[in-house]
Amino acid sequence: MTASSLPTRVPLLDLKRAERPLHDEMKAALEKIVESGIYILGPEIQKCEETISAYCQAKHGIACASGTDALLLALMALDVQPGDEVILPSFTFFATAGSAARLGATLKFADILPDSYCIDPASVRSLITEKTKAIIPVHLYGQSADMASLTAISKEFNIPIVEDAAQSIGAQWEDKRVCSMGTFGCLSFYPTKNLGAAGDGGMVITNDDALAEKVTMLRVHGMKPRYYHQILGINGRLDAFQGATLNVKFPHLDTWTGMRQNNAKIYGELFAAEGLDKILTLPKQVHPGRHVWNQYVIRVPDGKRDALRAFMTENQIGSDIYYPFGIHKQPCFVNKGLHWDNLPETDKAGTEVLALPNFPGLTEEEQQAVVNCIAKFFN
Ligand SMILES: Cc1ncc(COP(=O)(O)O)c(C=O)c1O
Repeated sequence: MTASSLPTRVPLLDLKRAERPLHDEMKAALEKIVESGIYILGPEIQKCEETISAYCQAKHGIACASGTDALLLALMALDVQPGDEVILPSFTFFATAGSAARLGATLKFADILPDSYCIDPASVRSLITEKTKAIIPVHLYGQSADMASLTAISKEFNIPIVEDAAQSIGAQWEDKRVCSMGTFGCLSFYPTKNLGAAGDGGMVITNDDALAEKVTMLRVHGMKPRYYHQILGINGRLDAFQGATLNVKFPHLDTWTGMRQNNAKIYGELFAAEGLDKILTLPKQVHPGRHVWNQYVIRVPDGKRDALRAFMTENQIGSDIYYPFGIHKQPCFVNKGLHWDNLPETDKAGTEVLALPNFPGLTEEEQQAVVNCIAKFFN
């Protein structure tokens, strides 16, 4: 590849590349819904609940309006109340914390492990009290948290785990799929996820029959039968357009995941060829299992991250920061009487992480252009 043959612009994400071959099928599926007049729940939703829960190696899938609602419904099913404590990482998307805070729970922020960016089981253990009602590990960027240690803690203290797998459908801890190991697993179908809908969507996954029934009720205002409200729920239903879109896209999920994995491998080779693996910390699969690479996130040391990002933006190379600081520093949580110990790894990651383009359909030439731009910055 000569430098002049490389693309001059690389987007962080281009959904259309993977989806374009499916556009006709997607439109036909949506047209079928218009013809049927069944817009909320219905057969398309039932189908995606069956296929996706089976894919997650679990018995039940309850589709809902978003990944945020999936977390909220799971925590509601566990009866999380004001005064209860929920342990979660601070280094995650806001929804992980927002759903627990909305129920009045006290948030206990644990630190992360620097290599996987997932919750540190030792930090979790140190935060357990008699008020702990749930632990929410987040399988960040496409990689499972250390579920062997976390399930051992869960069993020892009899505290349920709600897996936040919004970024990690299909990821595995050894041979176990995320969402199958905790009491609940929560998925998001936000369009940027590995399996994205054509709008918002989510799913609660569980192996527990009684809890599945409870979530199914909570999703429709706690209603069963019609107009008899047994418990206080929410309107968390998923619409049929999203179910139909998921059903068209689902058969391609593993192919797309394979492309993300291949992109990650190629980045590793290209960075090494430039000697940049000595300067940057490249992401890696930390434990045996399956990394599904929702994000390819490098660490840029010595306070150079923001300057590198500005240089990349100037050169039309997409990037983003997931996340610039921990949730414990979010304006809505500071000065609210919450207490947390130091979260050094969270704080450090916030200043160093940089997500690079990684999506199905990204070309090797584009990856070379990304790496060349970063090499130019450091030379
Ligand atoms: C880790 C994590 N948890 C929860 C969510 C919430 O999902 P949604 O946007 O579908 O509500 C997201 C989505 O970005 C996420 O990345």
